[in-house]
Amino acid sequence: MKAVIFDLDGVITDTAEYHYLAWKSLADELDLPFDKEFNEKLKGVSRMESLELILSLGDAAYSDEEKNALAEKKNDLYKEMIQKVTPADLLPGIEALLKELQEAGIGIALASASKNAPFILDRLGVTHYFNHVVDVNLIKQGKPDPEIFLTGAAKLGVLPEDCVGIEDAEAGIESILSAGMYAVGVGNPAQMQKADLIVSSTAELSLSLLKENFKQKTK
Ligand code: BG6
Ligand code: MG
Repeated sequence: MKAVIFDLDGVITDTAEYHYLAWKSLADELDLPFDKEFNEKLKGVSRMESLELILSLGDAAYSDEEKNALAEKKNDLYKEMIQKVTPADLLPGIEALLKELQEAGIGIALASASKNAPFILDRLGVTHYFNHVVDVNLIKQGKPDPEIFLTGAAKLGVLPEDCVGIEDAEAGIESILSAGMYAVGVGNPAQMQKADLIVSSTAELSLSLLKENFKQKTK
């Protein structure tokens, strides 16, 4: 195991909930039946693709201009919410894990689909742990495509098979697995059936847990 590549929303901090609340507010305004169950499909998915999925809940047609305005509206609301993020919003065990990885000389990268990721890492006070933050603006294919995780590995100068990816969503687990990496899922096992290892909380993550399970799989 030479590197660990993290998702952000739902793994490092619980901004997945803010994304949900911001989309919910937009969906309510448009009178669309959007709920938590449907929201699972949006996790790890880009802003515009998420909007398309939400709009598919109704039959109204929107021009590209209208869609851009709706996506911007959601993002404005989301940006308002994330101004309040502080280091106290790091999910349990995450900073300890980042420290352990850094001390062990294991590469650390971020593979988030969010254009707001660099801002959130700064608000959380953890940017300095990351050897590389993948610039999502340069990624052509979103999760479940492996491009974002493969880019993370390439930027760290390690082979995909030497990497662990950590995700909280189905599209993300698929992205990690199709990149040829070891996939760790955090949260509800129903959403992460294909993961190599599932933990119910980030508090369970540690360098030794990752190393031991990674070693067993690659034996
Ligand atoms: C992902 C989230 O990390 O980023 C998605 O899981 C979100 O819910 C996507 O839509 C894009 O985020 P942003 O901040 O660029 O709108
Ligand atoms: Mg996520």
